[in-house]
Amino acid sequence: MRELLVHLDRSAGRLGGQVRSGLRDAIRSGRLPPGFRLPSTRALAENLGVSRGMVVDAYEQLIAEGYLTSRHGSGTQVTSACAAPQPAAAPGSADGPPITHDLVPGVPDLSEFPRAAWLAATRHVLNTAPHSAFGYPGPAGAAELRAALADYLGRVRAAQARPEHIVVVNGVAQGLSLVSQALRRFGRDVLAVEDPSSDRQRSIFTTHGLDVAYVPTDAEGIDVEALARTPARAVLVTPAHQYPTGVVLSPRRRAALVEWARAHDALIVEDDYDAEFRYDRDPVGCLQGLAPDRVVHLGSTSKALAPGMRLGWAALPAALIEQIRDLKTNADLGSATLAQLTLVRMLETGAYERHLRVMRAHYRKRRDAVAEAIAEHLPAARVHGVAAGLHLYVELPAGSDEEATVRRARAHGVRVEPMAAMRVIAPGPPAVIIGYATLSPDRLRAAVRLLAESVLPAAGRHG
Ligand SMILES: Cc1ncc(COP(=O)(O)O)c(C=O)c1O
Repeated sequence: MRELLVHLDRSAGRLGGQVRSGLRDAIRSGRLPPGFRLPSTRALAENLGVSRGMVVDAYEQLIAEGYLTSRHGSGTQVTSACAAPQPAAAPGSADGPPITHDLVPGVPDLSEFPRAAWLAATRHVLNTAPHSAFGYPGPAGAAELRAALADYLGRVRAAQARPEHIVVVNGVAQGLSLVSQALRRFGRDVLAVEDPSSDRQRSIFTTHGLDVAYVPTDAEGIDVEALARTPARAVLVTPAHQYPTGVVLSPRRRAALVEWARAHDALIVEDDYDAEFRYDRDPVGCLQGLAPDRVVHLGSTSKALAPGMRLGWAALPAALIEQIRDLKTNADLGSATLAQLTLVRMLETGAYERHLRVMRAHYRKRRDAVAEAIAEHLPAARVHGVAAGLHLYVELPAGSDEEATVRRARAHGVRVEPMAAMRVIAPGPPAVIIGYATLSPDRLRAAVRLLAESVLPAAGRHG
């Protein structure tokens, strides 16, 4: 039977009344939702340390008032009509018709989560883990996972990381948060960030007091000469697949970036957010492998498995390990151990890489469907970033009105991400980001057709 907390002030007397009003308030506030099964009167009385008669009276009173229903065989429940106060609608969710084709990037196909493999791995962990696995974790994460990741990242991403250089984090987002705090501790108050870049990450840096210096990117990735003109001695980059333009950082720029870091005693933060998904060529190795003493490499299972896992890693230069462990302790005393051990099992048995192979083929079909549909319905658009990842950067036909197009597409039930929010210093052509991971090829084709019908020219000429 589920436990139920009712606050009683024993010095105030009238305990029966307090039980009654405590339950009523809990139902009204939504803390006890419609359909909630209350404990038996005996169990609740024992729990609260009051006589059973008081609880019987309270239940009877609330049944009479309509808050509770009692049915033979199914006990006492909160009446379904007692809906909790509705929270305010999320911004934008009430705008216009329902979203039927959601092309917003950043989410993998959640329906493909490898449930059976994860379950088998979890079962193995629960059958074999020592009792100590249920104690507080160390701040760096489970030693088994750090060893497995050192091997995996070395093999698959050409990283150079020993297990002691790895700290397990709750996703790239937490890695960025910890690194931002560490930069402040080291007196590096300016972080250079690519322009355009993910607008969702900006508040992570500013919350921790960093100033952001935006640096333009072009067809080779970040402009390292422009970076050198900023006061920043730390930079965040997405070398495998620039977010959002999809550019792979060129070999020349990789070398220049590392040279800049060495010359300025600077730190490079590498966000390797979707590097597992590369379709037409071999994956490009990570930047960290070139300069492990200068690069913080951040990755996670958010795209490979699901963002709800909140499981990621930071491979750190030696000089940062102590600080990041300390900050991780302050943040949450370490990431949850069971999920870490389950990931170890997935890596050891090959289930993780098998899943990735299946998903690569799955996403490739989706990418092809979008690219073909764009060629058919929007031939004047230019598509970038097809080689990797789970989204495309699509320049709308010259002269289109980006904002109006996105709005009109939304009215047709299609949600695409406009580029405007991601650009800070340099204006760019009208463009949108299309995340293609979550819809079937047929739905993607339909979405692109609707998007094509939504393209509006700039300067108010509605055609
Ligand atoms: C640029 C970028 N980096 C990282 C991530 C993943 O962050 P996390 O690992 O915290 O889920 C995303 C997710 O969409 C992203 O767009």
